[in-house]
Amino acid sequence: MVLGAIFLTGANFFLVWIPVLIRQTMDRVEQLSENNYQVPDRILETLFTTEAAEVLGWNSLILIGTVFMYGVLLFATRQTLIVTSRKVEFDIRNDIVNKLMKLPQSFYSRYSSGEVYVRATEDVNKVREYYGPVIMYSINTITRAGFVLTMMFLVNTELTLWALLPLPLISFFAYWITGFIHRHSTIIQEQYSVLAGRAKETFSSIRLIKAFNRLEYEQNRFEKESESYRVKKLRLDMIESLFHPGLNFLIGISLIIVIWKGGEMVIAGTLTIGNIAEFLIYVAYLIWPVAALGYTTNRFQRSLASWERISEILNLDAQIENKEEPITKEVEGAIEFRNVSFKYPETEELVLKNLNLKIHPGENVAIVGRTGAGKTSLVQLIPRLFDPVKGNIRLDGIPLKDWSLEKIRESIGFVPQETFLFSDTIGENIAFGVQGASQKMIEDSAEKAQVKDNILDFEKKFKTMLGERGITLSGGQKQRTAIARALIKDPKILIFDDSLSAVDTKTEDAILKHLRSELSGRTTIMISHRISTIKDADMIYYIEEGQIVESGTHENLLAGKGHYFDMYNKQMLEEELAEI
Ligand code: CTP
Ligand code: MG
Repeated sequence: MVLGAIFLTGANFFLVWIPVLIRQTMDRVEQLSENNYQVPDRILETLFTTEAAEVLGWNSLILIGTVFMYGVLLFATRQTLIVTSRKVEFDIRNDIVNKLMKLPQSFYSRYSSGEVYVRATEDVNKVREYYGPVIMYSINTITRAGFVLTMMFLVNTELTLWALLPLPLISFFAYWITGFIHRHSTIIQEQYSVLAGRAKETFSSIRLIKAFNRLEYEQNRFEKESESYRVKKLRLDMIESLFHPGLNFLIGISLIIVIWKGGEMVIAGTLTIGNIAEFLIYVAYLIWPVAALGYTTNRFQRSLASWERISEILNLDAQIENKEEPITKEVEGAIEFRNVSFKYPETEELVLKNLNLKIHPGENVAIVGRTGAGKTSLVQLIPRLFDPVKGNIRLDGIPLKDWSLEKIRESIGFVPQETFLFSDTIGENIAFGVQGASQKMIEDSAEKAQVKDNILDFEKKFKTMLGERGITLSGGQKQRTAIARALIKDPKILIFDDSLSAVDTKTEDAILKHLRSELSGRTTIMISHRISTIKDADMIYYIEEGQIVESGTHENLLAGKGHYFDMYNKQMLEEELAEI
């Protein structure tokens, strides 16, 4: 940046000599022409006298040299300052993404994805502008005004004061209009996000809209937003069209003052014609820096506001992080909850209350309970997607906080309740579980999850695209793909959160049979609403309102005639009814 400032100062140094050279040339030409006043075709005549040729030739050469130096230095300035700002932008953006990856889930429930996106793009761009244009224009304004004003005062103080008279007006005008443009652009930007968000929502739920016969309603709603966007945009366009004519008008006034007052002085004999030309160019030189003063003040304020928004993110505490020298040894798979209480950051109510649970390595555990009881919340604590508010969780007898996060997460195969698949090939979706998975690993885990036959039925097999630009899998196929993704990791701990809910009981049996041979030696936690899925588990826990209210094997629990027994009876009854 210092280098850029030096280049820019140099460029402006050369710039101020251009009017001086023009003045000298004009004055010389005038002198020469006065001597030849009798000749009708004055200019032609002067050009052919040797003295004139000398004056014009030399001055032109020097002028070209000066302009060339100015150009070279200006190029060097942009190359240093703008390139620097791009590098700053690159660093900030990487820092933000790095931070975003680590921020706790609570962050994502506080900020919408749109807001996060704007900070990582728009705001970073505005901060870049600070390092680029704002600094560049500021240095330019200072150095150029310094040189030009010095020259002007040296030539004629009175005319300088006259010429400067309208300049503050230009600065103020630029400040006012860029401020207005900025405020309106922000509003328009917001309106645009609303519009884009609405369109996105509409098209991703197009089936629902058609099924509910809401086409016209949606169309009207969109049209209304679109109209509001149009009106706002037109208002901005009008103000923007005012900018240049307004600026030119003020510039015109300055120039007229110089010619008027300068003219008077020439007539009075205190100034030459060349001086007027010189002054006109000086005033023109000052216009942009003076306008930039207003413009950069605005930009500077925006950059500052953006920087505040960015640093808010950068200064957030990641909360769930590795401590120094975390444990990275191999995981055996013993999990223990000790008096664990947990609540979500955005609510007050405890979702898990003083919960105790001990799972031995290789044990096959099931968790059942009504919807909203806290099953998903419980298993999310194991890979530390959240931390408990009270109590602690131990893995192999060591508190989770002492383990390396990467080690814990690497050792857990998690099949979440809501299946998410990327818009990528089905093979890549399965391979997501590990880095550098081979085709054989992908196929093996698809086989174990009972989804391989389905995949082979697709025309492009494992290369079948999913999601927006591809096919949509059925609910059960999705779930099994997610299971394959967890199995490919060959993890010590497997967590299935209601992961067989969308497959029929026959397929479920097949998966479970495969898993059982696969699962030996692995700790498994299986959440389910279906007793058939979990009745063979080593241990079943029944959760109600964040507490374990019953535990035991299937037979134990039935004999206890409690909640589990009721649940079992209800499901048996439903099955019988279904058979009728
Ligand atoms: N909850 C919440 N904030 C979240 C997720 C859940 O406040 N981000 C609340 C839910 O409203 C619910 C409680 O936490 O009251 C337990 O939710 P969960 O653990 O997801 O319940 P599950 O037992 O998993 O219910 P289901 O069987 O329906 O999956
Ligand atoms: Mg759940």
